[in-house]
Amino acid sequence: MNMVIIEAENNTSSLKTQLLVDCVFTDEVSSLSLSEITSDFDPLIREIIATKEFTAKDGTISIIHNNAGSSIKRALLLGMGDKKNFDPERTRNLIGKVVNKSKELGINEFVLIPFKNMDNEHLSATVEGIKLSDYLFNNYKSDEDKNDLNQVRILIRNDLKNNQKIIHDSSIVSDAVIFSRNISNLPPNDCSPKDLANFSATLSKDQKIKVRVIEKEEMEPYGLGGILAVGKGSSSSPKLIIIEYSGSTKNEKPIIIVGKAVTFDTGGISIKPSEKMDEMKYDKCGGCNVLGIMKAVSDLNLNTNVIGMIPAVENMPSGNSYRPGDIIKMYNRKTVEVLNTDAEGRIILADALAFAVKTFAPKAIIDMATLTGAAIIALGTNVAALVGNNKDLVKKIIDFSNQTGEKIWELPLYDEYKEQLKSSTADMKNIGGRSAGAITAAAFLSNFVEDTPWIHLDIAGTAWNQEGTKEKTYNSKGATGFGIRTIVKYLINNNLE
Ligand code: BES
Ligand code: MN
Ligand code: ZN
Repeated sequence: MNMVIIEAENNTSSLKTQLLVDCVFTDEVSSLSLSEITSDFDPLIREIIATKEFTAKDGTISIIHNNAGSSIKRALLLGMGDKKNFDPERTRNLIGKVVNKSKELGINEFVLIPFKNMDNEHLSATVEGIKLSDYLFNNYKSDEDKNDLNQVRILIRNDLKNNQKIIHDSSIVSDAVIFSRNISNLPPNDCSPKDLANFSATLSKDQKIKVRVIEKEEMEPYGLGGILAVGKGSSSSPKLIIIEYSGSTKNEKPIIIVGKAVTFDTGGISIKPSEKMDEMKYDKCGGCNVLGIMKAVSDLNLNTNVIGMIPAVENMPSGNSYRPGDIIKMYNRKTVEVLNTDAEGRIILADALAFAVKTFAPKAIIDMATLTGAAIIALGTNVAALVGNNKDLVKKIIDFSNQTGEKIWELPLYDEYKEQLKSSTADMKNIGGRSAGAITAAAFLSNFVEDTPWIHLDIAGTAWNQEGTKEKTYNSKGATGFGIRTIVKYLINNNLE
């Protein structure tokens, strides 16, 4: 069931809840908001503060029971730590602790009193923290965890502007992340390119969305030689999914978001070792994030034109597979010498990028992909790599990522890196050697965007929880939906300009 977050009623004298949560900074323990709502807990509060059982230290929780028989049975004090350097990311993580605790307690609703003088950004982070930490992928467990929250009310006591809108919009964005996670987490036997096309089709219930799928048979006439080549080895045929959202007039150039969706990456003929190969079901996360972004754009009813594109393939070894040594002709007529069939993501993305640029003349193009193990070598599993050709766009995305807590670091795109891709027989080869692998993959892509302002996000390390991922209360096992919140923020803001 979908959990809802609403603003709590202002008349607190009649407030009824199974759990009242008060968020407290260390320097506020002597004047709790909770006491302004009900005095029932005061004796207990005095006691746990006097004994230092609760000091509001960062991340600590105290639960107190009310025996006075009022309509609020239990309260939870959440320690928020020092007010200095407090940021929305801490809000997300701390609120996640409360959600986990409430599940342990077996309750299905609570009322949250945020910390005093909370601003809009923290309200938004609070909503995200609640929704995202409540998420757990357990669709395949027969003894499914039934203990779900179904409502959280937020008691906003200072005069924040637009509370309702912020709660509403942040709920939409969080639900879009959950939508993406749910598809990303599907096993490869339940998520083929065709399944992705079917999920995309559900978005067209919005009249402003048109979904079009370019099928395998049409790829040759279209000249989509890259997607066709990579998809050849699988009995599930490749697709290019195009999700067009028209929020503005026809003559406004669209922003295009492209996501790699390799529903399973065996490596193809250049097959991967079997250890952890199962994790390559997450090689579709970029594409699933595009689905999430398009859902958010639609539910937020943005008045801008946005197009989502998902090249979807399964990379399999078989008698029909493309091989090392093959030379393929891409959508933009450039030729690529394939030297490793495991460097498949850049090939399908390149076709999609070239198709996007030629067909829609976008004002900006962003791609997201679990593209290289080298991005993990360079930055680890908590930071995504960004490469782009436009300073302004790069700056915007990095600025928004600082607000969303989705850590991104820019890598350079000098001409030297492009030289690593020189081929003796074709226009370029699909691998650039051992050094700077994340950058040479991006350099490959840069050959297909012409002068369009473009950024590429390599989310190989951040798209799902893997070895080395820092635990966050709002990211449960499996896919994270990393990047969706940052890009949606960019799209919302672009809308305002
Ligand atoms: N999907 C992988 C990249 C990947 C690896 C993502 C591990 C997340 C975790 C991609 O298709 C791939 O196999 N890349 C190769 C490229 C190489 C052959 C140049 C890689 O990174 O090893
Ligand atoms: Mn691969
Ligand atoms: Zn891959």
